[in-house]
Amino acid sequence: MVHKIREAADFIKSKLDFSPERAVVLGTGLNSIAEMINDPIIIPYQDIPELPVSTAPSHAGRLVAGFLNDTPIIIMQGRLHYYEGYSMAEITFPIRLLKAIGIKELIITNAAGSLNASMVPGDIVLLEDHINFMGTNPLIGENLESLGERFPSMNEPYNLKMIAQAEDLAKEHNFKVQRGVYLAVTGPNFETKAECKMFAANGADLVGMSTVPEVIVAIHSGIKVLGISVVTNLSNIFHAEAHSQEEVRANAAKAKQHLEILITNVLSNRGAKND
Ligand code: HPA
Repeated sequence: MVHKIREAADFIKSKLDFSPERAVVLGTGLNSIAEMINDPIIIPYQDIPELPVSTAPSHAGRLVAGFLNDTPIIIMQGRLHYYEGYSMAEITFPIRLLKAIGIKELIITNAAGSLNASMVPGDIVLLEDHINFMGTNPLIGENLESLGERFPSMNEPYNLKMIAQAEDLAKEHNFKVQRGVYLAVTGPNFETKAECKMFAANGADLVGMSTVPEVIVAIHSGIKVLGISVVTNLSNIFHAEAHSQEEVRANAAKAKQHLEILITNVLSNRGAKND
């Protein structure tokens, strides 16, 4: 695996004449954030050696690099999902790649269903913890010490300073953010009512089909993570109707403006008290 990561990283680095230390992974319906970069360097995923390519409908699948207010950043526009049939190693390969490029801080965004009555479609939730309910783990298998330790701590998977920074920004710009716990399922079916009740009773606020494997690998790699969910639908606890892809997309669009403020300012370290 190490030589594949190296090959992909060398390819990306050969295209950049700057060294980004911050990156963002964009989830469903959030691709427009990439448009905020001036003169972007756009690299389609299929051009990157060893990088698996996404099949999901609203996942563009390209790496965008450039400057956001003077700060060099990378945007991973589109991600791979376990439900598409990729292995855990494949869906987390982009995180290994980001680490090899030199990324130290990462914002991971997603679209999520709400299990909590005070988190409604359009709301932005900063992840403070997660529950891995995918029944597997991207770190299973031989551990390569050069990539990270065998038993990484998950005591603080989401960086508290980055959470505080995002909260300060939301206050400053006059919009609401909440903190919540994200539970990851494999999908691709949405959860049953009984599953939702169980998840909520056990401390989850949000449910989704991504993020957790990527966060686990980011923590293993020593990357600081800020996780941001956009609530796109109420889970089955609150209504029994099936949610369409259109519903998910429309609600993600509502939160776009606020998310842009959070992402751009956290990535360029504005309004911040970082270490
Ligand atoms: N469940 C799982 N994943 C999701 C949901 C949901 O309700 N909404 C968006 N992604």
